[in-house]
Amino acid sequence: DDKKIVMSGIRPTGFLHLGNYFGAIRNYVKMQHEFECYFMVADLHSLTTHPDTATLKQNVYRVIAENIACGLDPEKAAFYCQSHVRETAELYLYLNMLAYKGELEKTVTFKDKVRQNPDNVNAGLLTYPVLQAADIIIHRASYVPVGKDQEQHLEMARNFANRFNHRYGPVFPEPQAFNYNAALVKVPSLDGTGKMSKSENEAATLYLADDDDTIRKKIMKAKTDGGPTEKNSVMPDYIENIFSLMALVCSADKIAKYKNDYNEANIKYGDLKKELAEDMVAFITPIRQKAKDILDDEAGIKKLMKLGADKANESAHKTMNLVRTAMGM
Ligand code: ADP
Ligand code: NA
Repeated sequence: DDKKIVMSGIRPTGFLHLGNYFGAIRNYVKMQHEFECYFMVADLHSLTTHPDTATLKQNVYRVIAENIACGLDPEKAAFYCQSHVRETAELYLYLNMLAYKGELEKTVTFKDKVRQNPDNVNAGLLTYPVLQAADIIIHRASYVPVGKDQEQHLEMARNFANRFNHRYGPVFPEPQAFNYNAALVKVPSLDGTGKMSKSENEAATLYLADDDDTIRKKIMKAKTDGGPTEKNSVMPDYIENIFSLMALVCSADKIAKYKNDYNEANIKYGDLKKELAEDMVAFITPIRQKAKDILDDEAGIKKLMKLGADKANESAHKTMNLVRTAMGM
């Protein structure tokens, strides 16, 4: 059919958290019903900074299990591992001839990574945006669900696709960023500073693999204060953050009650946190349990990955036939 094609990559770099769910996975789950979706676990990309492969397979399995537990359906979307689509390496090679050293060196993420790890500035790191472009356009994707931080890479993917089209003939659509919401969701960290993130502060991050008591403990420790002393006070950021977390999992009635208590200057943060913790437990527990069941069945995971790889390879192979024909290779 003529459904628009969506492609997105997920890095296998650790346990998924609430921010990943509400900022990304929830949208993938919605998209899989509306578009032809390719969701890829980027194991090759992780080699640019983590060349040790000892734990890579387990990390790939985990990210697959957690995404499926969140509702990603491998029967609907093609959910696959990057290294299983070998023809991407061929497209990456062709695109490398259309990518210039100067533009690659100017990439913000490249400069960041050089700063973080000056001892391993490898060519894979420099050409990361080229491999990313190959991953996207090998499915002739039109939409890529990414945040602002990825806009430069997507712009480069458009440039590489356009250069190919001009030189060899029209094969690729121009991939565009895609978002359901104008304002991107930002899930705040529990310590009152910034956004929830894998690497920042584990105690302030709610992981989809956290057990019930860990969730309760983390939420009970979230930063609050003695409460407002006057009616209708301005809310400090860290209290606003708690209400942002409530908005993800609590009922509208419950949120309204505590907002009202705040405005009346008689809010009890202990009670609020207990209710938030129980709603969060109810949200995370079924995801954690489902992910564990999936992970425990390694043969089952391999079967799902084969299913995804078959779909992704079929799409990649079609595109590469067009590419080789256009190039006369
Ligand atoms: P992390 O910051 O934990 O390393 P990634 O950078 O791998 O996460 O991001 C994976 C996806 O999850 C991206 O689409 C990103 O926008 C989204 N995401 C990560 N953290 C948050 C957050 N706190 N709130 C909303 N979305 C988030
Ligand atoms: Na991030």
